[in-house]
Amino acid sequence: MTDDRYTRVLAIETSCDETSAAVLRGRGDDVAVESLVILSQDVHRVFGGVVPEMASRAHVAALVPVVEQALSDARVQHASLDAVAVTFAPGLVGALLVGVSFAKALAWSIGRPLVAVHHMEGHLFATSLEHRDAVPPFTALLISGGHTMLLDVAAWGRYRLLGRTRDDAAGEAFDKVAKLLGLAYPGGPHVERLAASANAPSSLRFTRPMLRRDQTPADDDYYDVSFSGLKTAVRSAVRGEIDRGTMTDDTRASIARAFQEALVETLVEKTVRASTQFGRRRIVLGGGVACNGALVAALRARAARSDTEVFAPSARLATDNAAMIARAGLFRFEAGERAPLSLNAYASMPLPGIASTN
Ligand code: KG4
Ligand code: ZN
Repeated sequence: MTDDRYTRVLAIETSCDETSAAVLRGRGDDVAVESLVILSQDVHRVFGGVVPEMASRAHVAALVPVVEQALSDARVQHASLDAVAVTFAPGLVGALLVGVSFAKALAWSIGRPLVAVHHMEGHLFATSLEHRDAVPPFTALLISGGHTMLLDVAAWGRYRLLGRTRDDAAGEAFDKVAKLLGLAYPGGPHVERLAASANAPSSLRFTRPMLRRDQTPADDDYYDVSFSGLKTAVRSAVRGEIDRGTMTDDTRASIARAFQEALVETLVEKTVRASTQFGRRRIVLGGGVACNGALVAALRARAARSDTEVFAPSARLATDNAAMIARAGLFRFEAGERAPLSLNAYASMPLPGIASTN
């Protein structure tokens, strides 16, 4: 049964290596996730990274049962859906196309509108599904495997891009460092665990990239980050230990910890710069790296000094999932947006609603 006061959205997410579907019902910020199914593709572990062609094939095999499971968990039929939302960018084009083609066919066959969702806008909405106060205005730090973005969010749909990575994304840096340390993919959680096992204190310290005390908002690297130099520093440290024959479990843990500390301090400082400059009292994290407990704890401690609250999603909603796509899809649907059946998938695409800083 459809309730006129609410909109019920079925969403599909296939941008990388999770096949996910969710049903969400709501109006504005008053929403309820009725179901969420996430199938993580294990196959990529063997290769130490996502293999695009394999991801597409795995989405093809999994999507129909994942969507059926989401509908059955929510106890709804096609007839009670009001819209079909789908991630159309950014991501792996082949993987995205599986979700987009399926969503188009479904929307057409049940006679419901199709809504195109930008994956990073999904991450922006994810935390609000768990924390009622994680709503604009706020400073957002989106840190995933493919993106690192610092945003000022005046309202849903009104974003100002303050900074981003000049090279590797935060999650990518974790994954590359994990590889250097001989850890499995995806590397973030393994690096975090190894770092936590380090015997403090260690004299090892990596330079904080693009972080200087004398920076001012007029500098173009005031908010931007860069992690490729940090990764290179980790590589030299690892090689040095191996060459000297001094690599032990303790040394690996110290390197993991020193890497994480450098990355965390950089992100924390840049994020707090943004909340201070824009007078925001809330910071919202999104993306897989938002699972990192050391980052969340350091940001909370630093933000508390300026009475600013930090909202972080649980692991389930931090990593890729269709509930966040449904929530962003509801927002776009309520704004009157409808996608044509000619909708395509795109590897990259600017976040909608971005205003320039100047
Ligand atoms: O958002 P996400 O699921 O996928 C993308 O859209 O990219 O993020 C995945 C990334 C991976 O790079 C993974 O290593 C990282 O999130 N990650 C973490 C942690 N858990 C996941 N990074 C650091 N610490 C963690 N605990
Ligand atoms: Zn993501």
